[in-house]
Amino acid sequence: MGIRRKRIGILTGGGDCPGLNAVIRAVTKSLISRFDIEVFGIEDGFEGLVENRFRPLSYDDVSGILQIGGTILGTSNKADPFHYPVTEGGEVVSRDLSGRALANMEAAGLEAVCCLGGDGSMTIAQALRDKGLKVVGVPKTIDNDLWGTDVTFGYDSAVSVAAEAIDRIHTTAQSHHRVMVVEVMGRYAGWLALGAGVAGGADVILIPELDFDLETVCEKFRFRRRIGRKFSIVCVAEGAKPRGGEVVFQKETPASRGRPRLGGIGTKLTEEIEEKTGLETRVTILGHLQRSGTPTPFDRILATRFGVAAAEMIGRGEFGRMAALRGEDIVSVPLEEVAGRMKTVPVNHPLLKVARCVGTSLGVDD
Ligand code: F6P
Repeated sequence: MGIRRKRIGILTGGGDCPGLNAVIRAVTKSLISRFDIEVFGIEDGFEGLVENRFRPLSYDDVSGILQIGGTILGTSNKADPFHYPVTEGGEVVSRDLSGRALANMEAAGLEAVCCLGGDGSMTIAQALRDKGLKVVGVPKTIDNDLWGTDVTFGYDSAVSVAAEAIDRIHTTAQSHHRVMVVEVMGRYAGWLALGAGVAGGADVILIPELDFDLETVCEKFRFRRRIGRKFSIVCVAEGAKPRGGEVVFQKETPASRGRPRLGGIGTKLTEEIEEKTGLETRVTILGHLQRSGTPTPFDRILATRFGVAAAEMIGRGEFGRMAALRGEDIVSVPLEEVAGRMKTVPVNHPLLKVARCVGTSLGVDD
């Protein structure tokens, strides 16, 4: 009887982002051609692990997907195997099906899993590791808030979309002498708002890490009027909130399955600015546009580097770790250091200073 080749699974968990396919391609091509390891795609993130939905990935299957956004494997952010939604007696209840997920892997002969995900996925990966799973992580998210890596793939693409939106908003803001509020994603961290705001030259940038003062924000618009600037642009992260105020959530629906949806601070802010200043103010919510579309060349390169590094970690049997960017180098960091932690914008981050130095208000007394 011939010796069976090693098999590993690959999954994409949490919200999608540009560059996932580039990683899937790099991991799969490297494992097949350099390590003679078979690769199986796990469909829809951890849901596929629990529901036993695996399919073989050949070299050809992953050709031509480098520049395509989203994920060919599908994803889910409501399928934590430890709190898995199941319908019992007509009601949806949460059950620990992590044992079933591991049994499915064993039955399929999968020795390890390469998990592409953000903070939620890495926390699940680490918990499965505690139960014996061999896992290698790859850091993704447009929010760039994953601990342990300088940058996640997907962030640069999202910054590009949001910065282009701010560029475009400028012309109509200028023509109509309006205040234009652009709401971008960023649940707990302001990296995206900060990056896009600086790149797009926003007059005000509001991030979750710095609770803003509405009067300070409005004073910026009045000041700009006084010096002859009749329009202003605000870039606000969905997770930003006023001092002493609350984060704004959307209405919960049965489909949101208890996972609160952020969004709406832009609209609330717009109403308040108009009321306080009398200036015509409009809002644009970029939403999922920021996560869609093709990855930038930077993200394609980073995703490919991460994918090749993850394949090498698998080849070496270096499990329980996540590929990470540190300076110029791709390194690996222990998953237990990443799990349950978040990388928010430090209040003394140099880019905040840079923003202030070019006259951008951060909504707090500078
Ligand atoms: O985690 C990335 C992210 O884009 C957040 O910024 C945002 O709040 C969330 O995903 C939205 O996720 P969903 O598409 O599931 O509503």
